Amino acid sequence: LNNGLALTPQMGWNSWNFFACNINETLIRETADALVSTGLAELGYNYVNIDDCWSNMKRDDEGQLQPDSKNFPSGIKALADYVHKKGLYLGIYSDAGVFTCQVRPGSLYHESDDAKLFASWGVDYLKYDNCFNLGIKPIERYPPMRDALNATGRKIFYSLCEWGVDDPALWAGNVGNSWRTTDDISDTWESMTTIADLNDKWASYAGPGGWNDPDMLEVGNGGMTYAEYRSHFSIWALMKAPLLLGCDVRNMTSQTFEILSNKEVIAVNQDPLGVQGRKIYAEGTNNCSQVWAGLLSGKKVAVVLWNRCSKVVNISADLGLLGLDKSAQHTVRDLWSHTTLSENVVGSLTAQVKVHDCKMYILTPTSSVYTS
Ligand code: DGJ
Repeated sequence: LNNGLALTPQMGWNSWNFFACNINETLIRETADALVSTGLAELGYNYVNIDDCWSNMKRDDEGQLQPDSKNFPSGIKALADYVHKKGLYLGIYSDAGVFTCQVRPGSLYHESDDAKLFASWGVDYLKYDNCFNLGIKPIERYPPMRDALNATGRKIFYSLCEWGVDDPALWAGNVGNSWRTTDDISDTWESMTTIADLNDKWASYAGPGGWNDPDMLEVGNGGMTYAEYRSHFSIWALMKAPLLLGCDVRNMTSQTFEILSNKEVIAVNQDPLGVQGRKIYAEGTNNCSQVWAGLLSGKKVAVVLWNRCSKVVNISADLGLLGLDKSAQHTVRDLWSHTTLSENVVGSLTAQVKVHDCKMYILTPTSSVYTS
């Protein structure tokens, strides 16, 4: 969507994956504090997004949405002011149906009122869900909120959460700044790998202004191993997915923080070229040895060697298949060990990769000493 936002994928935090409906204004303020104090805000995680359950069960007498009086007694404007003072943005949630998924009032047929209210509160981001939609097609229900947000004059990031219904990549480019391509992620290896593959299908539709959204990060929530979370984060970064933290950032382990704060991996995600990396090839049992890659600015290529097998494997990337010149030398930067390999590579790059782990590199062409 050409609204000046989302030139690179959005980064921030969202309450749903870890807290679900157990949210309140203290949590939101403490999360904003933690994003700043940990340094994550400075690395780019600047949206603080409240998901479902922030509102009362009913609209007020004037038909306006109202914050849950018990959990958000100071109101959303006060929260927006608070996060803005910290240099962050506030996101909110509604639904393109008559109720949200947790049966709070939805915004269908209230688009203009609700968009104005969000803008008046100083909201910077809307995640727009798909429950209780009366069976009306997404393509009819999502543009009215785009127009309503636009009419407020406030720059509001518009995140479509319609779970991949009717293949949004095909039509949402001028509707939203990102669109979910799948059902909800859960905190398991099985869910994460399945979603990565589903999202991959739409790679060619992503770019500055509009991104495929394979759902929020589960890193730090406990259901996967360190290696699996490292793979999850690497592939999401390469796929130009939104990097929305889904854990309790007030209580991260050092491993969780190490993954989420990897500047070099974040830089791949935020590369200005905005090309979604994709699965280039896969081999072995059930195609479990995989090479994913994507072009970066400056003729560099980001590569992920992904071991989805149940044993240690050697994975080789053929540089020709990555779109590089097979006869040229390339320097190799390892984004997880933060080292540059002492040998340049020509032709292919091979590494041993642990179970469910990955290696992530940036290959940069150098001028060859053997000029041809
Ligand atoms: C479904 C969405 O896909 C989730 O991300 C979350 O927003 C829930 N609804 C909230 O009810």
